[in-house]
Amino acid sequence: MNVSKALIKWYHLNHRELPWRESCDPYIIWLSEIILQQTRVDQGLPYFIRFVDKYPSISDLALAPEDEVLKLWQGLGYYSRARNLHATAKMVHNQFGGVFPSDYQQIRSLKGVGDYTAAAIASFAFNEPYAVVDGNVYRVLSRFFGEKTPIDSSEGKKIFAGLATALLNTKTPGIHNQAIMEFGATLCRPSAPDCHICPLV
Ligand code: ADE
Repeated sequence: MNVSKALIKWYHLNHRELPWRESCDPYIIWLSEIILQQTRVDQGLPYFIRFVDKYPSISDLALAPEDEVLKLWQGLGYYSRARNLHATAKMVHNQFGGVFPSDYQQIRSLKGVGDYTAAAIASFAFNEPYAVVDGNVYRVLSRFFGEKTPIDSSEGKKIFAGLATALLNTKTPGIHNQAIMEFGATLCRPSAPDCHICPLV
């Protein structure tokens, strides 16, 4: 079985159920990713629920007073991220009529959205073939390919982006990306990974 197929099969059997995974709405996915840039899943989850509850659409968020948004963010730290979140919501509301962009380059140009977050949104919401590389994916690739170049060098970034792209299943990039991230977060965790039940070897 190829690696992507094995990852996806593993994912279907083993993934955690998380509310943003039920959604193809780019706003919901963007919101969850911005919160998860900041914190772990178990700590971010209640924040995500409160934000979606209060602001069901990106325009609801755009039209909220900034101090209200910052208050809801309280405890997550780095208020610049909350300000970026609010600024991006306003931009999508004002310049795109409240419709979240579907084009990768446009998504990437949004404030607070880097390569990883743009690939996550484009692939999860629009099934666009962009490979995500976060810390979890980096670890999976490094172990699987025996690649030791540190990711915090420009050479390492290029190498790992290339490996991630080579592995990407271009028919179902969204689920592939979810699968490799979840695999890295759980079975292929940093310490004491479950190598004895690894589905990739
Ligand atoms: N960490 C960052 N993004 C995530 C996601 N979409 N699911 C689970 N953990 C994540």
